[in-house]
Amino acid sequence: MKLVTSLGDGLGQVMADEGQMQQVLMNLTVNARDAMPRGGTLTIETRHERLDAGPAGLDPETQPGDYLVLTVRDSGHGMDAATLSRVFEPFFTTKEPGKGTGLGLATVYGVVKQSGGYVRPRASPAREPAFAFTCR
Ligand SMILES: Nc1ncnc2c1ncn2[C@@H]1O[C@H](COP(=O)(O)OP(=O)(O)OP(=O)(O)O)[C@@H](O)[C@H]1O
Ligand SMILES: [Mg+2]
Repeated sequence: MKLVTSLGDGLGQVMADEGQMQQVLMNLTVNARDAMPRGGTLTIETRHERLDAGPAGLDPETQPGDYLVLTVRDSGHGMDAATLSRVFEPFFTTKEPGKGTGLGLATVYGVVKQSGGYVRPRASPAREPAFAFTCR
């Protein structure tokens, strides 16, 4: 498996628990590994993003402001729409019994939300699954 990192400079700081953030990164990267049983590319990216209300506006649940965006992307098998719609549900798993508890992404969701951020699964143009989350 190939690991690619693209880490932004001078990103500033986010207010979040260090241990919880390690857990977030771990849960996302383990999922990425599981999605690539025959190898592939894991990409971890950080960057700054300023969300402005702008003419088109933001969706009602998103607050304008400065965000640090952490993206974990893999080149694995991806997800169908039914799976995608349930990924943050506690105990939702498509893995064999004994393999997954379905709590990984529910935990990610909880941590990010608690830190005043947002997390969303996103399919990239190359149809690679990706989880991107923005966190204050
Ligand atoms: N990177 C990914 N590529 C494809 N499918 C994914 C990816 N990440 C998550 N999924 C899907 O979302 C489901 C839920 O993920 P989640 O991390 O919550 O649980 P899990 O990995 O099944 O079990 P656990 O994390 O508790 O060991 C997975 O079973 C899988 O179907
Ligand atoms: Mg998992």
